[in-house]
Amino acid sequence: MEIKGLDFKDAVLLAPLAGYSDVGFRCVCQRCGADAMFTEMLSAEAMRHNSKKTEDMTIREKEERLVFAQIFGKDPFVMAEAVKNNILSHFEGIDINMGCPAPKIIKNGEGSALLKDLNTMGCIISECVKAAKDRPVSVKVRLGYDKVDIAQIIRVCEEAGASFVSVHGRTFAQGFSGSVDYDAIALAKAVSHIPIIGNGDVVDEESYQKMKQTQVDGVMIGRGAVGSPWIFSLIKGKKVDEMDMIFRHVEILREHYPEAWLNKYLRKHFLAYAAAFKAGSDIKRQLALQTDINESLKLLQESANILKTRTKSVK
Ligand SMILES: Cc1cc2nc3c(=O)[nH]c(=O)nc-3n(C[C@H](O)[C@H](O)[C@H](O)COP(=O)(O)O)c2cc1C
Repeated sequence: MEIKGLDFKDAVLLAPLAGYSDVGFRCVCQRCGADAMFTEMLSAEAMRHNSKKTEDMTIREKEERLVFAQIFGKDPFVMAEAVKNNILSHFEGIDINMGCPAPKIIKNGEGSALLKDLNTMGCIISECVKAAKDRPVSVKVRLGYDKVDIAQIIRVCEEAGASFVSVHGRTFAQGFSGSVDYDAIALAKAVSHIPIIGNGDVVDEESYQKMKQTQVDGVMIGRGAVGSPWIFSLIKGKKVDEMDMIFRHVEILREHYPEAWLNKYLRKHFLAYAAAFKAGSDIKRQLALQTDINESLKLLQESANILKTRTKSVK
């Protein structure tokens, strides 16, 4: 099965990550080998009120080949309106968030709260599919609300016309605790007639292979890519220069966002890169206080060089 050029055989996707999956990060993940990417979750309600903040999150680059705009909400008609909103017209597909466990989202009956209301869930998906016309609509779910209910969830997604489903192998009640339930992901794949993307705890080649053993059509990586977008290159057997990727991440963001905003925004990405380079606490402290992006990049370069020298001497 192929969707908009995405061949589901061995597809590796970048997960939607609120506060992280910005346009620059998505581009470097693609350069490292990601086959498709998702925006951060976008509020359908905020779109209705022409939120500038939400519009800023819909910036994309020409070089991005396949990006799904992820929306969240609980009203099928507001969600369908969001699908038709002009600010999403430049995305290849739409993804519906039915997995977010954040308290304020749950309180509103959105995100993974929908997993306990399969009727509304089906209604939202089918209205979005209608509104999307020929664009694919995918759904991102957890295994269930407070118990594993994945077979019913997949059936609802399929019947409502979803093109594929990404399954985070935990229930809402589990949050991020415990480990991913691989058997439940395998069950999702076994009962499904549409592609299933397995998600959760993939941080290296070994955990990637473990997820592949569930027979899923593709694997989605979230936290494992933060600070290490080159996880995609390891899986795809591609060679990339880590610092080149970081420079490109920053360069793209600088084309779209004001420097003062980026100064603060990039700090968490820089700290994640520093952790990947095994930088010492002194460097991390300096990065946390740094107000000049160029100085932060120098600190990262330094850490990358130290790691390279250390790795060579170990060999
Ligand atoms: C910081 C952060 C932000 C996230 N934002 C979103 C989001 O916007 N939409 C969504 O569907 N899932 C979101 N998730 C969940 C991830 O997409 C993913 O399902 C989860 O982290 C498990 O995969 P992983 O172990 O590869 O990270 C987020 C997770 C984290 C840690």
